[in-house]
Amino acid sequence: MGLKLDKVVPIGRSLGEYIKMFNLTEKDLQKNIIGVGDGPASFNAEATQIGSKVISIDPIYQFTALEIQQRFDAVIDNIMAQVKANPNDWVWSYHQSPEDLFDNRKKSLNKFISDYYQGKLEQRYQIGELPKLHYQDNQFDLALCSHFLFLYSDFYDYQFHYLSIKEMLRISKEIRIFPLLKLDLKFSEYVDKIVKDFKDQKYTIVVVNVEYQLQKGGNQMLQIVKH
Ligand SMILES: C[S@@+](CC[C@H](N)C(=O)[O-])C[C@H]1O[C@@H](n2cnc3c(N)ncnc32)[C@H](O)[C@@H]1O
Repeated sequence: MGLKLDKVVPIGRSLGEYIKMFNLTEKDLQKNIIGVGDGPASFNAEATQIGSKVISIDPIYQFTALEIQQRFDAVIDNIMAQVKANPNDWVWSYHQSPEDLFDNRKKSLNKFISDYYQGKLEQRYQIGELPKLHYQDNQFDLALCSHFLFLYSDFYDYQFHYLSIKEMLRISKEIRIFPLLKLDLKFSEYVDKIVKDFKDQKYTIVVVNVEYQLQKGGNQMLQIVKH
């Protein structure tokens, strides 16, 4: 795979954040889950600890823990400077302040790094990338995609989004995507077309308000369930 780590922003979120971003219930956490583009999130490590069954896929899993850690260290100061330079773009409810956000991101990374070797042995971290995934039809109950689809709409076109969502729906009975905003905090122009195109194909598709909000206005996720 030709991925260059210097193009990746390896910032990861926690189980607590995934629960709020995706409205995950205790019942959801007992499902067979795939996290698509989980990167260095501690979701898999923490969910595994409480007995959930999660596989995470991401192209960065071709790299070592040290390489991922070094990439995080190389980008985090710049990201935090951007956050502090635009205080009105953020809602400090889950994370209390930029400093708290920084601490939480570090904690998530550390939990991920501590779990990475064991998780790879257990095949909980697998190399893979949208729009094509190497799993069987309906292999999972729930596919989650946090901070990749829609967020990077200015870098990936509608066709990429359509094919990626179709592929997630092939391997999973239900999918949830968060957020629906782009990096510039504008609502992704692809969401309405995705809703229309997948409704036509007899899926139940809804935009759901959730409790989590960090990007101002970014408190919605897209949920699609197969009939
Ligand atoms: C901003 S990070 C989000 C990480 C994690 N989902 C979270 O919310 O904490 C975006 C992730 O998408 C991954 N990614 C990039 N291209 C991808 C692709 N084609 N398919 C799946 N994931 C991809 C990156 O490697 C990175 O780990």
